[in-house]
Amino acid sequence: MNCAERLVALFGSQAEVARRFKLDRAVVSHWVKVGYVPARWAMEVESVTEGQILALEVLNEANNRRPVRVKSRGEDDTFFGSATPGSDTMNSFAPAKRIHSFHPPQRTLMGPGPTEIHPRVLTTMSQPAIGYLDPVFVEMMEELKSLLRYVYQTKNPLTFPVSGPGSVGMEYCFVNMVSPGDKVVVCINGVFGGRMLENVIRCGGTPVVIEHEWGTPVDPQRLEDTLKANPDTKIVAFVHAETSTGCLSDAKTLVEVAHRHGALTIVDAVTSLAGVPVLVDEWGIDAVYSASQKCLSCTPGLSPVSFNERVVEAVKARKDKVHSWFMDMNLLASYWGATTRTYHHTAPTNSLFALHEALLLIREETLEDCWARHQRHHVALKTGLEAIGLQFLVKEENQIPQMNAVRVPEGVNEAEVRKRLLNEFNLEIGAGLGPLAGKIWRFGTMGYSCRPENVMLSLSALGSVLSDMGLPVHVGDAEAAAHHAYAQMHAQAAQQKKRAA
Ligand SMILES: Cc1ncc(COP(=O)(O)O)c(C=O)c1O
Repeated sequence: MNCAERLVALFGSQAEVARRFKLDRAVVSHWVKVGYVPARWAMEVESVTEGQILALEVLNEANNRRPVRVKSRGEDDTFFGSATPGSDTMNSFAPAKRIHSFHPPQRTLMGPGPTEIHPRVLTTMSQPAIGYLDPVFVEMMEELKSLLRYVYQTKNPLTFPVSGPGSVGMEYCFVNMVSPGDKVVVCINGVFGGRMLENVIRCGGTPVVIEHEWGTPVDPQRLEDTLKANPDTKIVAFVHAETSTGCLSDAKTLVEVAHRHGALTIVDAVTSLAGVPVLVDEWGIDAVYSASQKCLSCTPGLSPVSFNERVVEAVKARKDKVHSWFMDMNLLASYWGATTRTYHHTAPTNSLFALHEALLLIREETLEDCWARHQRHHVALKTGLEAIGLQFLVKEENQIPQMNAVRVPEGVNEAEVRKRLLNEFNLEIGAGLGPLAGKIWRFGTMGYSCRPENVMLSLSALGSVLSDMGLPVHVGDAEAAAHHAYAQMHAQAAQQKKRAA
């Protein structure tokens, strides 16, 4: 009996097989007629029959009837199971479907990160691997640290990329700085402030939370009042640029307030770094972390961090061991430290090559021009979005140039719009999170994604989809407004240049 007949025998009729597989009866009848069950149903067959008919049996039978053609295999080879090289046991763990090399589509990434990656960074990343203690690599690490000090505007020696995404950088700060019982003031005005709170709790700290309405900046006066009421506060933590809302807080003032009350500061600069000024030394930020995939425009998975001397001393003075082996500053410093290097973990070498190149691009552009570029394209995008009636969530003076959150117009299915942008225009934008889910769209203009062609595509694609969905949007208005904004900015820049000459 073939697998199709066995299914019918097992469940009593073709109709019952169809019901179990949620299929039309004609499909099952076709299986019986051709004498096999197509390979794509193999896993389903094994699960519906609770293992009475194995996926492997379906696969081999189907492959004998309609062999999968693989150039390097002879016609007689069975693709799955015992006839191929390798033992039966090992092949039973082989994937049930034919797997090809992965080739992602070309997308325009205008969401909250990751961003598009400059071709120079991608090329660098695909260079041959070398060891993480190779003298050439060690030399590159020193350059990487100095480039990071430049983007952070700091002289802190302990500035390096932790292996892991921004969330690891966040944990690195909290797990090193918060001892059980330490009082930590956490300012929350979006998703990521909430994660800081979670870190404090997990480190055994005593959190004091200042909740803000999402979309508003952290209020220095409320911080001042909270610190007056909690004079034993050790640390103040806040997010500089809240990605979930597109709201920028005044980091300089918040750090000043914390220091007036003798507290250290942990600042999340994941979205802010390289998009807007983050002046670590001038503002006196004590501990800061960021991520590689936002305005640094590198591949995700690295988190640049920086501790000043006060933090380094405080961590070294801890009586208890840091509650994470991987993120213990003292151990990581033995790998990233300037003089001798010893093994800590296998560093992601090719990702670090990529970050080196991404930072070099910023150095070549200069940090000031990089901030100015983010501001310029933000203005153009904003002018275009407002021209078709969209409203920003955040007040103008608190908007983050690289993270533009706009309200979804009444009655519009926001997920459908994003789906159409992706499917029809290969354009990715972000959705709202938490209480803002379904209520906002988030347009990132970060790093290498922050280019005029991406701004214009976003505006024309959105205008076209909204108009197609029946909204009173005139196609072309958004682009025209953005062009006008660009022209004005270029004229102003030319005038300034003339005056300066
Ligand atoms: C402000 C902020 N903090 C932390 C994170 C976490 O970074 P990651 O997703 O790289 O772990 C993000 C990610 O978007 C973020 O926007």
